[in-house]
Amino acid sequence: MTKNTNFASKLGMILATAGSAVGLGNIWRFPTMTGENGGAAFIFLYIICTVLLGIPGMMCEFIVGRNGGHNAFRSYLKAGGSNKWGIVGILGLVCSCIILGFYSVVAGWCIYYLIQAIGNNVLGDMNEIKDNFSDLIHSTWIPSTMAVLFIILTHSIIVKGVQGGIEKASKFMMPLLFILLIIIIIASCSLPEAWKGIEFLFKPDFSKITSKVIFEALGQAFFSISLGTACLCTYAAYFKDDINLLSSSAQIVGIDCGIAIMAGLMIFPAAFSVGVEPDAGPNLIFLTLPNVFTTAFSPTWAYIISILFFALLTLAALTSTISMHEIGTSLLSEELKLTRSLAACFITIICCIIGILSALSMGPIPMGVMGTDLFSNFDALTSDILLPLGAILTSIVVGWIMPRKVVVEQLTNKDTLHWKELGINIFYILVRFVCPVGIGIIFLNQIGAFRI
Ligand code: TRP
Repeated sequence: MTKNTNFASKLGMILATAGSAVGLGNIWRFPTMTGENGGAAFIFLYIICTVLLGIPGMMCEFIVGRNGGHNAFRSYLKAGGSNKWGIVGILGLVCSCIILGFYSVVAGWCIYYLIQAIGNNVLGDMNEIKDNFSDLIHSTWIPSTMAVLFIILTHSIIVKGVQGGIEKASKFMMPLLFILLIIIIIASCSLPEAWKGIEFLFKPDFSKITSKVIFEALGQAFFSISLGTACLCTYAAYFKDDINLLSSSAQIVGIDCGIAIMAGLMIFPAAFSVGVEPDAGPNLIFLTLPNVFTTAFSPTWAYIISILFFALLTLAALTSTISMHEIGTSLLSEELKLTRSLAACFITIICCIIGILSALSMGPIPMGVMGTDLFSNFDALTSDILLPLGAILTSIVVGWIMPRKVVVEQLTNKDTLHWKELGINIFYILVRFVCPVGIGIIFLNQIGAFRI
């Protein structure tokens, strides 16, 4: 098989991969998690997990992917030297379809809010805003139709391919997202009592750290940088040979953490200012932000900003869903020798089914186990179990199974980059011991195998 296409430029590659990382995970899930887990102490753990486990984990996926040069199944197979290891790629495929399914429900809310913003229907007083949101998630048709619409939108970019679709879209959408975030942060932080939100974000209360908080910080870190589902490995197959894997990982993780914290700065000062509890749950951004816009801006500006905000939220979600879709599309088309569009159709249909079930489970047709809905079950199954599992297996294959020579070749771009022996040894210590043991302890502790 010949090698796949590449991302055309380094900037395009960084923005596409950062586009995968930056999404609803940063703007919607991170503030939710932070709110529910006590604020700054959670953020502290989140940053430790992303830097210590996330950067080496990301590099491992990059190594497997670029060395493989093909879809996730083939890359893991090549890395591990047997079909058994290829299963890690398949696991990634299953996991990414589940994530794409439930993720598109929230992405669908974003499109719905965008449409409502254009019709000037999202602004108003807090009670109206709350009622609108609750009507939305409990209705039968709108959330599932919107989720399906979102998956079809993702499909339409995926079929255009890597350079024409993924790279082009990301180069336009990512910078715009950043500018808008800054504007809304300024508005949010200048509201009365905003300092309470800033304090909540940056003043840690270490007594709030429990084993559950550590576990959730780990799950959030992995979710946010798209680690553990072979998504990064799939993208790395499109990296050129001169991409520096260490500095690219650090840049992508830096962008991702930075945007998550910026999202916190956008939401918590506003939430405290309008008296919304920080642990309001998944609907936090859909309740607080329309309120901020109404209070902070003149009606015309509030109208414009609300449209821009929901447009950009939709776009941020889209750069992430593209990456989840790409894993399956590339895997099915190469392994089953299907055309790219037929492979994409299969993935789209599976994800639509998962999306519709998740959407219905939150409102009209309660389904799910362990006392919650299917949407939360899917979220927990992937972030709490499948992502850590995928990350552990990836660090084992790179640390213990792949020949050191191949790994070093990828790290140093075939000896064109200078790596000190010490640096390589530190990388190996992180990948062989710190990542699998660290993730494993947190994981086993959480599923109750033992208690720290
Ligand atoms: N990282 C994305 C976000 O923060 C979500 C995402 C995209 C993802 N691809 C993934 C999560 C693969 C896990 C695995 O929104």
